[in-house]
Amino acid sequence: MSFTIAIDGPAASGKGTISRALAAHFRFAHLDTGLLYRAVGARLLEGEEPIAAARALQAGGLESDALRLPAVAEAASKVAAIPEVRAALVDFQRAFARRAGGAVLDGRDIGTVICPEAEAKLFVTASPEIRAERRFAELQAKGVETDLAAVLADVRARDERDMGRADAPLRAAEDAVEIDTTALSIEAAVARAVAAVEQRG
Ligand code: C5P
Repeated sequence: MSFTIAIDGPAASGKGTISRALAAHFRFAHLDTGLLYRAVGARLLEGEEPIAAARALQAGGLESDALRLPAVAEAASKVAAIPEVRAALVDFQRAFARRAGGAVLDGRDIGTVICPEAEAKLFVTASPEIRAERRFAELQAKGVETDLAAVLADVRARDERDMGRADAPLRAAEDAVEIDTTALSIEAAVARAVAAVEQRG
C-alpha cells in the first residue's frame, strides 16, 4: 500500500514542522524536497554548473546544517527556476512518494507537479511578517548573525521568485486543503493537518 501526503507552501510557513509531525503520526517516511534544491544551490555557490550538479545529486548527505544557511536558500531558489534542474530531480521524488508504507513530501510543487495524484494535499501559508519572525528566531538559535528586516526582505524575494517562475511555480493545487498558520500554535496546526489527512484516507 502506498499513500502520499503532498505539502506545499512558502518559506517558513510551518510546512516542515507539519510534515515531520504527520510523518511521525502516520509512521510515514518524510522527504523535505527543499533540501534537493538547497544541495544544488550549495554546489552553485562552490562554482559548479547547476544542471550537471542536479543530475549527479545523490540522496546521501542531504542533512548537512550548511544547507540551512540563508545564502544557500537564495541560491536554491535561483537554481529551482531552471527547468533542467527541476527535471533532473523528478524521478527521485516520485519514487520516494510511491514507497510502501506511505510518504510525506513537502516543497513548492508536490501537489501540482510531482504528485498530482497524492491521496492528501495540504497548502500551508502564513503572513510574510510572521514567517520572517520564525525564520529569524531559527537562525538566531543556530548562531547565524542576521537581522529581522533582512530576513523579511529574503522571504519576500524568495516568495516572488517561487511564485513568479514559469516552470512549476508555487501555488495551491485545486484540491489542496489550505492551512493558514499565522495565528495557530504548532499543536493546533498539526491537529488540523492530521484531521485533513484522515478525511482523505
Ligand atoms: O523549502 P526550502 O525553503 O528549503 O526551499 C528552498 C528553495 O528551493 C525554495 O525557495 C524554492 O525555490 C525551491 N524549491 C522548489 N520546489 C520544491 C522545494 C523547494 O522550487 N519542491
